[in-house]
Amino acid sequence: MRGVVLVGFMGTGKTVVGKKLAERLQMKFIDVDGLIEERSGTSISEIFDRFGEPHFRKVEKEVVAEVSAGDGLVVATGGGAVLDPENVTNLKSMGKMIHLSARPDVILERTKDADDRPLLETADRRKQIAALLAKRAPFYARADYEIDTSELSVEDVVDEIVSYLKESFDGRSVG
Ligand code: S3P
Repeated sequence: MRGVVLVGFMGTGKTVVGKKLAERLQMKFIDVDGLIEERSGTSISEIFDRFGEPHFRKVEKEVVAEVSAGDGLVVATGGGAVLDPENVTNLKSMGKMIHLSARPDVILERTKDADDRPLLETADRRKQIAALLAKRAPFYARADYEIDTSELSVEDVVDEIVSYLKESFDGRSVG
């Protein structure tokens, strides 16, 4: 295993869980969106605004390919990274892919004050979340393991991931 990859919808806790998980596993944490922002010297919203989503996806794909070649990493991806099958193949080559999920009402609550998620800037955010979740469900389902974070603390989620990794590498899980 060269790494652990966190995928899932916006507001499911990928970044905050990823940071804690990396500490626990003594691995390095990489946030794909963070790296994109660092490299481009601007925010994700600004990239969407100025260059459009297709450009963002192109940059995201390059960064995912690069990060996937790394070692000793916990990687948090942006919510749409799994829409590209090549991204999924690259990310899965690192090790286990964990899908963090949450109920739509929880996602709405967690993202309600956020103005840094261009895809949620619509008249009816609740509707947009439901539509995107429905469209993306088959893509998130490609992960090795899913954790519903709706009622869990960050520590709980980290504990569950660590148990899952232990079990799978002890050969006690089919995952
Ligand atoms: C996106 C999710 C965002 C970011 C971009 C697009 C998506 O990341 O990559 O706004 O398509 O779901 P987070 O999931 O970290 O918010």
